[in-house]
Amino acid sequence: MSETSQGSAALGPIHGRPSFREQFDRSRFPEHGLGSDEVYELLHTGLMLDGRETLNLASFVTTWMEPQAEQLIHDSLRKNHIDHEEYPAASLVEEACVHMLGDLFHAPDPAKVVGVATIGSSEAIMLGLLAHKRAWRHRQLAAGRPADRPNVVFGAETHVVWDKFANYFDVEMRKIPMRPDRYVLSAADVEAQVDENTIAVGAVLGTTHIGEADPIEEINDLLVRIKAEKGWDIPLHVDGASGAFVAPFAEPDLRWDFRLEQVASINASGHKYGLVYPGVGWLIFRDASRLPEDLVFSVNYLGGAQPTYTFNFSRGSAMIQAQMYNFLRLGRDGYTAIVETMLANARHLNEALTASGRFEILNPGLAEPVVTFRIKDDPGFDVYHMSARLRENGWIVPAYSLPADAQDVHLMRVVVRLDLSRTMIEMLLRDLDHAWESLAAEQPTVRSAAKPDVWTAPDKAAAHAKARTGLRA
Ligand SMILES: Cc1ncc(COP(=O)(O)O)c(C=O)c1O
Repeated sequence: MSETSQGSAALGPIHGRPSFREQFDRSRFPEHGLGSDEVYELLHTGLMLDGRETLNLASFVTTWMEPQAEQLIHDSLRKNHIDHEEYPAASLVEEACVHMLGDLFHAPDPAKVVGVATIGSSEAIMLGLLAHKRAWRHRQLAAGRPADRPNVVFGAETHVVWDKFANYFDVEMRKIPMRPDRYVLSAADVEAQVDENTIAVGAVLGTTHIGEADPIEEINDLLVRIKAEKGWDIPLHVDGASGAFVAPFAEPDLRWDFRLEQVASINASGHKYGLVYPGVGWLIFRDASRLPEDLVFSVNYLGGAQPTYTFNFSRGSAMIQAQMYNFLRLGRDGYTAIVETMLANARHLNEALTASGRFEILNPGLAEPVVTFRIKDDPGFDVYHMSARLRENGWIVPAYSLPADAQDVHLMRVVVRLDLSRTMIEMLLRDLDHAWESLAAEQPTVRSAAKPDVWTAPDKAAAHAKARTGLRA
């Protein structure tokens, strides 16, 4: 802010003050304060340049909660969740959520699961895999075997956080490529990669790129067989970032969770289909034996030992309280009603896109309320044009390419969330139709062949492509 802005707080109407006719200096710490109303207005109007949250169909993250939930969030904003001694009631809510999730995920004894609230699934996955790395190390050392070459096995359909874990924590990444015609793992792929140094296998329920499920039960059966034949007790970590809050309600008989012997840990994003605002995620271990004691720092309050296993110390309590709000408010039947509605809306979109004859659906099985589709023939434009054209109507629908070896597949993805009604889906279909017709008339230059892989290449081009397409968590 320049000299002329100094002390503007008390001067006349907000929109006549210097802060509204000068750009504030983003590189200097402000010398003088402004009035609270003025700052609010300045930032609030600036944020209007962002996309509209409900129309952001790129994101899995919740964009609507009930007013009472928002009130509870507001009530809890001042609580630092790590202060267990000072806020025992808030801490007990986290513990109760962990056990409720243990029950939802069919833990043999929900009272015995251990787990933790995280900022999201990324933190939960890293913590889960670190526990498996440490447990593997203990097993190796106890058996007099080397413990210096750990590896982790997962498919290219995983979220980038799996690559990050391998990179940040020095674990060899055995990433199984996608195939041009198959976007999930197979048990045979996994069998070819695991050995006595495998700390864990990762399988996804609701893949980020396509919205499909890895064959979790088949991979579990493989690991059970390997345990019997070779003595390698390789844990399976299920990345249920979005699917863990869908399958229990949409397909309660689907066996993907602790009903399967080798499933040792599960992560879920409370802020995706757990229906809470960002950021809350969950890491749940089958039981305490899966979390090595030397990773756990114990705090004791109310007479019991509370294991704490997190990266962060301070964090807000509000979203954990909001998670419990949803558990109590919705229960199984409330979640089921919402999940079934989202799936019905996704199915409707899916069928309408198919009926148009223009698009091929890539996830007809609908493991979650996500629709991924590509253009069938060559109409003289591509999904990147479609995405940009939809943006003109406010819709944020990302276009991107799949990872290797399916990098030639260029697609779009619509994440159906609870605030996307059937009426809005009809509007989206109408705008897709208009976009198609206008692009068909214009015949712009096709760009898809030049698109880099937005997920794996850690270079500038990828960062730019990602920013352009808007593919998000
Ligand atoms: C399958 C999967 N795993 C992990 C993540 C990361 O989750 P979060 O954004 O909660 O950290 C995502 C995000 O979209 C995801 O789809």
